[in-house]
Amino acid sequence: MSEKICVLGVAGGSASGKTTIINKLQDYFGEDIAVISHDAYYKAHPDMTLEERSHLNYDHPDSFESDRMAEDVRKLIKGYAIDMPVYDYVVHNRSEETVRIEPKTVIVMEGILILENKELRDLMDIKIFVDTDADERLMRRIKRDMIERGRSIESIIDQYSQTVKPMHEEFVEPSKKYADIIIPRGGENAAGLDMLITYMTKKLHAEL
Ligand code: C5P
Repeated sequence: MSEKICVLGVAGGSASGKTTIINKLQDYFGEDIAVISHDAYYKAHPDMTLEERSHLNYDHPDSFESDRMAEDVRKLIKGYAIDMPVYDYVVHNRSEETVRIEPKTVIVMEGILILENKELRDLMDIKIFVDTDADERLMRRIKRDMIERGRSIESIIDQYSQTVKPMHEEFVEPSKKYADIIIPRGGENAAGLDMLITYMTKKLHAEL
């Protein structure tokens, strides 16, 4: 393994293609990569009903325990393993389980709002923003949330107009200005991905 550590931030609107990019980075860096998702740090709401939780605003910066995520990333950078929380989108709550993440040379932080938060931003060596059209993101989100996250079409559309879109415009889109690299069209952008991997490899080999 290389001696240097590279901490990458992957931000971008919901369903912009962050996961596709990260999957490709995992194919490339293999065992050397750890992925820490902001969603894992959604606040738990043990006292609310499922119905109440399904109507919460999950796109506002205050819905996350970002300080705990920052603390965990700092531990990984120092070479300690962490027990990352696990989030269950179907019941809108943190699960009882945690997952052990070992320290790696490439640490990827991902989430819609990770560039909005200064404490998280300051941990990153490279910041990318995946920039995909809103209509494309909405179409992908409808499919994904119906199949994987147990939401009805009515709930997806209501949530999109009430919270997802306004929060995107207020917090996610403006955080693009903090990115070092903006990758249009997400994971299908082979040239963007290639440039990113080249940069990360140089960083790991202390050439930057
Ligand atoms: O994977 P992606 O970046 O799209 O995940 C973030 C999205 O997950 C947010 O836009 C938020 O609205 C959604 N979410 C949800 N229900 C939850 C938690 C998050 O719809 N319980």
